[in-house]
Amino acid sequence: MTQPSLSLVDSDPAELAVDAIVIGLQDGALLPAPGAESIAAAFDGRLTATLALLGATGAPGEVTKLATLGTVAAPLLVAVGLGDEPAGPAPELETLRRGTGAAVRALAGSATVALALPLPDDEGAPAVLRAVLEGALLGGYRFAGYKTKPQKGRRDPVGALQVHVPDAADAAAAAELVRAEVVARAVRQARDWVNMAPNELRPPHFADLVAAAAGEAGLAVEVLDLDQLKAGGYGGIVAVGQGSEAPPRLVKLTYTPEGVAEPKRVALVGKGITFDTGGVSIKPAAGMWEMKSDMAGAAAVGAAMLAIAALKPGVAVSGYLAIAENMPSGSAYRPGDVITMFNGKRVEVFNTDAEGRMVLGDAMARACADGADYLFETSTLTGGQVISLGKRIAGLMGSAEATELVRTAGDVVGEPAWPMPLPDDVRKGMESEIADICQTNSSLDRAGHMLQGGVFLREFVEPGVEWAHIDIAGPGYHAGEATGYWTKGGTGVPIRTLLQVVETL
Ligand code: BES
Ligand code: MN
Ligand code: ZN
Repeated sequence: MTQPSLSLVDSDPAELAVDAIVIGLQDGALLPAPGAESIAAAFDGRLTATLALLGATGAPGEVTKLATLGTVAAPLLVAVGLGDEPAGPAPELETLRRGTGAAVRALAGSATVALALPLPDDEGAPAVLRAVLEGALLGGYRFAGYKTKPQKGRRDPVGALQVHVPDAADAAAAAELVRAEVVARAVRQARDWVNMAPNELRPPHFADLVAAAAGEAGLAVEVLDLDQLKAGGYGGIVAVGQGSEAPPRLVKLTYTPEGVAEPKRVALVGKGITFDTGGVSIKPAAGMWEMKSDMAGAAAVGAAMLAIAALKPGVAVSGYLAIAENMPSGSAYRPGDVITMFNGKRVEVFNTDAEGRMVLGDAMARACADGADYLFETSTLTGGQVISLGKRIAGLMGSAEATELVRTAGDVVGEPAWPMPLPDDVRKGMESEIADICQTNSSLDRAGHMLQGGVFLREFVEPGVEWAHIDIAGPGYHAGEATGYWTKGGTGVPIRTLLQVVETL
């Protein structure tokens, strides 16, 4: 898992001896965005007309390549559309992030690439630079895959990126560079885990990989195996995991800040179903392979913890990964089972395909028992999330303060999440005749079924804990062709949100 190397430059972009140079292009007048002045000058007034001839429009994310034929030092110029001329000093951060990602993706095969994008020289500069760096590094991701022979015509991701800034010696800019490398490494790690084939990432192995990476990063690591889960009363994790020959795990990673007396305590919890067949309530065959991504929440939590170990925020953070494989078999849990969860509550199972909430309930209750002021849980929990909010916007439920923290952070980093309610009538619909709660609506009514997930998980949060549930069934995995800084497969959502929240706290 290599990522492009990064450096800052402040010399004339027209004179950079790189394989390609990227500039921004604004809608309408097809004007090169700020940062590209010297390149436009080298074209002697012909750049706009040439780009128009090539069909460029400046639409967000549009990539136009042209040979520079000696006008500037780089032989290839890439103009990336940044949309309308911005009202403020710089384009929208997400437009810039996606545009940079698209440009770097389009330049696969180039060893060295320079970015001459609109980076202002004011208080807003670090945020804009952060967007460009993240877009570039994430757009430059590629999953190594399992091919036994090198593919013809397959071009390697960009090897080195030079980012043109007003002042390459600026300390704030240098700090952004360090942070971007940490954050991008975490996102790439999560994408790699999600993209692995499910036979290559069964629960014990996933737990081992996370534990090894976390140990290297200096985090404290605790891995509970099947015997320990049984003895510890983790009924939900054991029930879901018992249908598979590969036993479940609960991984806890802990970061403790140095020199902070009584830091705020944050828990991150992720759903780690390495493959979700639905179990006995089996899923239809079509598209089932995509359920290899049902551990995207745990991957995000594990990777976020790796970044936290490097960023060293002033709060205490524990990550919990609830890992199991949901399989149908002679030993699988079944509809009708009553399961005693870690916090003692009894759950009547109605549909073994609602396995996420079973493993998460245990992990969240454990996080509360360990002592948490804030609990952020993320999971590919319901198809209902995709139906109601689509593939970009996560579903967000929980207490007022925590959900607002997530929504605001998501907006800043380009991982939108939208607040949804936890209605009383949905809880009423989950009353069980024989246990404390049904795992789904007791008449199997799917109405508002994203909300059922949130309402169920609330039962495993202790009073007084600020909590948010982030349903990433849609945004956790990108099944379509690459777009912006998203490549096909795992996206790494909501790692950057979690990091932003932790840094805010
Ligand atoms: N992992 C799925 C949810 C999912 C669906 C994620 C599509 C990504 C894309 C989850 O375990 C599941 O099966 N949920 C059920 C819940 C139902 C049985 C209450 C669903 O969404 O249908
Ligand atoms: Mn399921
Ligand atoms: Zn699932």
